[in-house]
Amino acid sequence: MQRTLVILKPDAVTRGITWKIIDRLESKGLKLVACKMVMLNEEILREHYSHLVDKPFFPDIVKFMTSAPVILQVWEGVDAVDVVRLMTGVTNARQAQPGTIRGDFAMSVARNVIHASESPEIAEQEIKRFFKEEEIFSYKRLDEDMLYEEDEK
Ligand code: TYD
Repeated sequence: MQRTLVILKPDAVTRGITWKIIDRLESKGLKLVACKMVMLNEEILREHYSHLVDKPFFPDIVKFMTSAPVILQVWEGVDAVDVVRLMTGVTNARQAQPGTIRGDFAMSVARNVIHASESPEIAEQEIKRFFKEEEIFSYKRLDEDMLYEEDEK
């Protein structure tokens, strides 16, 4: 099983649509194994978005991402990283496919409701950035045996 980091961004929290995003991920068959609400700060955003620190829009990212709390989550499943990225849609929500989370719930590049890890390696780093090992739980979903063929697990 693979793990991926999701951040429900300040727009998702303040617009009251976090449950809709969680509903989609849970209904898909992904397992929520860690979850907490936190206020991000510039220091951690510099680390998390290190590939964007030199961009002219980086101060706006900081302003937006620190404007309200976020919900940090770890989701688990077979190929969870790719599955959640596909469900997330492209960065510019106006161009994101209908049926994706950004495509259905957002209208902006910056205010695009969800962050999802880009690759398994990055997911591992991101999960370590935000969660201690004891904050990540192990349990069985009751439908787990039905969700996958034996050789897919
Ligand atoms: P990025 O890692 O490129 O995209 P994604 O979130 O799809 O993996 O960018 C991180 C976040 O930075 C993105 O979700 C929104 C913000 N952002 C902007 O505000 N303007 C931009 O031009 C880009 C590329 C990103």
